[in-house]
Amino acid sequence: MPQRPGTVRFDPVPPADVIHFGIGQPGPDLMPVEALRAAAADFMARAAAQPLDLNYGERQGDAGYRAALAAFLSRNYGHPARPEDLLVSGGNSQALDFACARFTQPGDAVFVEEPTYFLAHRIFTDHGLEVIGIPMDGDGMRMDVFRERLAERRPALVYTIPSYQNPCSVTLSAERRLELAALSRRHGFVVAADEVYQMLHFDETPPPAMATLIDEGNVLSLGTFSKIMAPALRLGWIQATPELMDRMLESGFVNSGGSVNHYVSEVMRHALELGLQQSVLDGLRPAYRARRDAMQAALETHLAGRALWSVPGGGYFFWLELDEAVDAVALKERALAAGTGFQPGPLFSCEGGFGHFIRLSFAHYTEAQIARGVERLAGLLK
Ligand SMILES: Cc1ncc(COP(=O)(O)O)c(C=O)c1O
Repeated sequence: MPQRPGTVRFDPVPPADVIHFGIGQPGPDLMPVEALRAAAADFMARAAAQPLDLNYGERQGDAGYRAALAAFLSRNYGHPARPEDLLVSGGNSQALDFACARFTQPGDAVFVEEPTYFLAHRIFTDHGLEVIGIPMDGDGMRMDVFRERLAERRPALVYTIPSYQNPCSVTLSAERRLELAALSRRHGFVVAADEVYQMLHFDETPPPAMATLIDEGNVLSLGTFSKIMAPALRLGWIQATPELMDRMLESGFVNSGGSVNHYVSEVMRHALELGLQQSVLDGLRPAYRARRDAMQAALETHLAGRALWSVPGGGYFFWLELDEAVDAVALKERALAAGTGFQPGPLFSCEGGFGHFIRLSFAHYTEAQIARGVERLAGLLK
């Protein structure tokens, strides 16, 4: 049965003999084992002298973590970040769930990019939200359509992945980022900007993060260590102005022992302070660039003239348009049998669209595996 966005289940384990480009996670060779070992050891050495470091923490998250994070964000976003505007999160999925809990009511509308991150659909339906898709062009969400929809229905929340969007790898232009922030203030909705790939640029830097626009509107910038350190941390941050922060800090959950993940945030505080997070990030960019280039070369060799795509400037994904006659959902079954895999377009659509599109992630496999997997895929499309 074809999977619909709202019913899909997360499957973390790729079958061993399949080169599955549906897996949007780092491969084993990119896991920063030594950096995390050193950061955890450094933290535990301090905790041995100060055992109350293992106690409950503050509602916004440990002040030391937020100070180290603010310095890291200021450097990597090229814009000053304030520790008091940061709230520790359990990564962007938890942050999005939390934003829905704090800023929406069942029956409200959420505007999303069409197509968008498939696992976000389930979070919105968990909160009883009506998901309304806004089409995109090469500059991201189409603001002309956005304004038309806004005239019909005011959303409680707008969800955007501004840089190297999942699945299309499209980047929202600087002008549209500003317009979105301004509209949020004028019309009273909240923008949840999922900035998961903002720092993973391989060529030019993208437009300034939405985090730099929190003073321009009702903007929450959601950041995570999943793609720049390790997904297992399940740690991130929400950057927001004091007004939105106060509404989040009223949460009963946050008031029961402080926000999420004190232990992991302490480990990451040490990783930030020791410069380990910066080194990992600086190493990931060329590693992912090489994988991106390997996938581009393999696609050129095997699929030129049979598919259309743009070369992503960052992030994790190629988004391929195949011949209109191709049924991507049915093709996935055949691909798995042939030892490769991808995510089919309809998974990302709130309208069942993109039936002949597929998303390929280059994050999980080595260059040699990428070449082999693309060749297998092309064999199916002959
Ligand atoms: C757009 C987007 N948001 C969120 C996530 C998950 O983030 P986290 O691991 O911080 O929950 C992903 C991971 O693929 C993603 O692509």
